[in-house]
Amino acid sequence: MIVVFGATGTIGTPLVTALLAKGVTVRAVTSDPAKLAGLKALGCEAALASFDDPDALAQACKGATKAFLVTPAHLDMRRWKANVITAAANAGVKHMVMSTGLGASPKARLVFGVWHSESQELLKASGMDWTFIQPTYFMQNLLWQADSIAQGVYLDDLGGPVSWVDARDIADVTAKALTGEGHAGKAYGLTGAQALDGKEIAALFGKEITLRPVSTTDARAAMIASGMGPEVAEAMVELSTLAPKGYLAGTETTVMDVLNRPARSISDFIAENSTAFDG
Ligand SMILES: NC(=O)c1ccc[n+]([C@@H]2O[C@H](COP(=O)([O-])OP(=O)(O)OC[C@H]3O[C@@H](n4cnc5c(N)ncnc54)[C@H](OP(=O)(O)O)[C@@H]3O)[C@@H](O)[C@H]2O)c1
Repeated sequence: MIVVFGATGTIGTPLVTALLAKGVTVRAVTSDPAKLAGLKALGCEAALASFDDPDALAQACKGATKAFLVTPAHLDMRRWKANVITAAANAGVKHMVMSTGLGASPKARLVFGVWHSESQELLKASGMDWTFIQPTYFMQNLLWQADSIAQGVYLDDLGGPVSWVDARDIADVTAKALTGEGHAGKAYGLTGAQALDGKEIAALFGKEITLRPVSTTDARAAMIASGMGPEVAEAMVELSTLAPKGYLAGTETTVMDVLNRPARSISDFIAENSTAFDG
């Protein structure tokens, strides 16, 4: 049985679907009682556990041989991951696949890279087999500004080329790592096949779009206004400053290497979500 933490999120939702399609027994974990019935309706077990509740996390891990872990970007994310790693190791989980972020390593200097790296090192020291999933920006982030795009404005808060990855590719690689052989001890960088800048993305919507650059001051203020903690907003802003320097334009071949198929393209993603982007 595979226990999935973060099961209702951007990566977790397609991951649960991908695992169930492989015929695997899945226990999907949520912190929201209202989501339990929906998870069970998918055909998996559902468990209620907050990342803050060691007893519930221990219960959620009971009987699992493998685990997937992702947490939201949050000031408490390192503590939350530590709680789950401890619960899984104590429950006898043999292999944990954990999603962090591209560039996470002990050499990382950016806040998110450092935070993710600390969790990775903790998992390495846990005694469980480990696999790291290290994605770049998710294509699904574009849906955050679907209303703006529908009104003809693309908000470019990155200001440079980014090799966006589809969260469904992250989920598919993760599902393979959880069910196949030879993935223990690997760190999988995950990107799309090409990098596009804001102008190139705006041109994909098939209509007149104005590109509106977003300053770091405005980006920070918007994230805080949406409820994000100031430290996390600062870390997000720091990350976005890499794009103009070209540091987010690199591509990885992980999707092809692991799945033997090309990565999903951002033009297909935009076409599939045209209802959201057309308003
Ligand atoms: N977005 C990007 O472009 C990007 C790029 C690279 C790396 N990342 C990293 O990817 C991660 C985010 O992945 P994601 O978007 O898949 O996650 P997500 O959708 O933000 O969150 C995953 C799930 O966590 C659960 N959750 C929230 N608070 C919880 C709590 N206190 N206890 C237990 N569960 C809780 C929520 O489910 P319930 O409501 O059901 O509990 C949520 O669905 C972050 O670590 C971020 O740094 C993101």
